[in-house]
Formats: sequence, C-alpha cells, structure tokens
Amino acid sequence: MATINLVDLHKDYGNSHAVRGINLSVADGELIVLVGPSGCGKSTLLRMVAGLETVSSGRIEIGGRDVVKAEPAERDIAMVFQNYALYPHMTVRGNLEYGLKNRGTPRAEIDRRVNEAAEILEIGPMLDRKPRQLSGGQRQRVAMGRAIVREPAAFLFDEPLSNLDAKLRVQMRVEIRKLQRRLKTTSLYVTHDQLEAMTLADRLVVMNGGLVEQIGTPTEVYDRPATLFVASFIGSPPMNLLPVSALGNTQGLNLPAGTDMVGIRPDQMHLEPRPGATALPATAELLEPIGGESHLHLRLDSGHSVILSVPGRPSITEGTAVTVYIEPAALHPFDSKTGRRTDA
Ligand SMILES: Nc1ncnc2c1ncn2[C@@H]1O[C@H](COP(=O)(O)OP(=O)(O)OP(=O)(O)O)[C@@H](O)[C@H]1O
Ligand SMILES: [Mg+2]
Repeated sequence: MATINLVDLHKDYGNSHAVRGINLSVADGELIVLVGPSGCGKSTLLRMVAGLETVSSGRIEIGGRDVVKAEPAERDIAMVFQNYALYPHMTVRGNLEYGLKNRGTPRAEIDRRVNEAAEILEIGPMLDRKPRQLSGGQRQRVAMGRAIVREPAAFLFDEPLSNLDAKLRVQMRVEIRKLQRRLKTTSLYVTHDQLEAMTLADRLVVMNGGLVEQIGTPTEVYDRPATLFVASFIGSPPMNLLPVSALGNTQGLNLPAGTDMVGIRPDQMHLEPRPGATALPATAELLEPIGGESHLHLRLDSGHSVILSVPGRPSITEGTAVTVYIEPAALHPFDSKTGRRTDA
C-alpha cells in the first residue's frame, strides 16, 4: 500500500494541453475517483501515473518515491482497463498466473495468491475455463483478479465497467467498492459516470479541460459545488441554473455580492407553499414517472426551463399552471463571469 502524490502535473501533445497542472494527494488506502466529461484528461492522467505516458512537467510520487523516470513495471501498480484484455487462448487460471510467472514468483506463492483472488472474486469454479466461456461480468472479475494477485501498492482503474450492461455495472460497482474496502489498496478510478463516481469514491476529483474543478468527498461536492461546471455535472437530474433575475424580487434572499446566477437542486423546488419561500409561476411541460418519484419539466413564466424531482406521480398534465416554491437555503449562488461560488 502507498500514498500517491501528483505535483503540478502537465501533459502536452504538441499544441494541445491535455493535462494543465494537476495537484493531488491520495492517502494510503484511499479510493479517489477522477470524473469529468470526455476528453478532459482523465485517461492521460492515469496513464502518466502508470508510466504508459511520459510527463511534460511535474512530479509523480508513489509511496514517497519519485517515479517519473521509472518504467511501468518498476512502479508497483496494477491497472484494470475497460477492455479486459484477457489472453483468449489461456484459461482463467493461466490469465491470473501469467504476470506472476513472468516475474519469477515461486510456484507455491502463485498458487496461494491465485486461490485467494479466486475466492475473493468467487471465480473458483471457472479457473479452468477460457475467457470466451465467461460472461462479461465474469471476465471483468478475472481482469480484477489479475490486478489483485499482483498485490500492488496501488490500483488504477480506467472505466472498468463501461462494457457491461446497466444492471451488471451497478452490481460490479458494489463489488469493487467492497473489494477495495477489504484490501485497502490505494486506488485511482476513472469514470465519466457521475453516479458511479458518487457511489464509489472516498473523494472525487472533478476534472474539466485538463484542470481540477473541485476535490472533495461526494457529499461535499454535491452539497457545495465550487463551480458552475461542477454544479451542472454532479447530480441527476442536473442542478437547475437560473439568472438571478428569474427569481423576481431578491431583496430578502441575502445573496452574496457578485451573484448573478443561482443553482437549485431538482428536489429543492416544491409545488407546495413553504414559509419564507420564493414563489415562481410556471407551466407544466412534461411529467416523467420513474418509479418512486417523477421528473416534472416546467417552464417558468420568466421563460426558463427547470426540472423538479417530486415524490410519487402527481396528477399534473401538460399545460397546467403551477407555482414553484424555493426556500432561500436551497439557493447555490454563483458568479457567471468567474464560474465560481460567491459564498465560498
Ligand atoms: N496520444 C495522443 N495524441 C494527441 N492527443 C491526445 C493523445 N491522447 C489523448 N489526447 C488528447 O488529450 C485530451 C485528453 O484525452 P483523454 O484520453 O485523457 O480524455 P478522457 O478524459 O480519458 O476522455 P474519455 O472519457 O473520452 O475517455 C483529448 O483532447 C485527447 O484528444
Ligand atoms: Mg479516457
């Protein structure tokens, strides 16, 4: 196990700056999730840590040791990719053993590690099968097993679940979380799926355009998004963002100086009056029942569209006039020129 330290890390491809100065300290045993839209530099960052990509400038320390010039094999990390990259002609056992054999690990030690990983991942009965005789989820488990048997200082995951169907993805997500808690191996996990990020992470690193927007626990990031980007990226349905003018009279709201935008979570807008709440007239445009709750799409009389999460299935039809109530405490104030919170 080990800490990972990234210090002012940059990566340029010619004139394109994929990573623009990342600073991050990962504690021993911590699971950090790097999340952000396609092209924001997540894989590039992970590949630099793995040693699969050179560094333009900056420092990478694993377990206190500067590894910028170290070969991938010298970094004591194991990587799990989206395409599991199992050897098709080898059995599951063969795939699990391969890396250890190459390193000259003694036979007894190989057997111990493979059996232990097979037990943890519940793939014992499949050890003699070939990858093509496994389901996608089972293959993903074998890929995890290959990382576990290395007993590395750190795991690096790059979208390891994105080849799986939605149900299996949720199941494997839980398994990875449990596994990481049990092994307590320091981990960097890349995904563009904000829900996956929220549920897995000890801390999230929200990236955008090669830069860090915010680092924090999932709760911190959800409750106090530092920027407009984070506000719109984390949360589903996304936070509603409105110009302050859409609130009408803002006298009593005590918005910090410089605030010209406000964010409101969809479950913080209500259809029943609340004490001290701002009331906004609106028209219903669409009701989407999604089981225990519904997403109600409204157009405010100011012309702005918003989404509400409401419990159950309210009997509201398209074109119905409603009033939306927002409590002052539910407002996230932002300055659209800097893109940052104004109450930070
Ligand atoms: N080998 C390369 N040569 C030139 N540009 C590259 C190279 N690899 C990545 N890039 C560019 O660097 C940026 C970051 O790419 P990266 O693969 O890190 O994104 P990502 O966040 O992992 O995205 P995704 O979610 O789509 O996987 C992109 O603009 C990409 O086009
Ligand atoms: Mg990627």
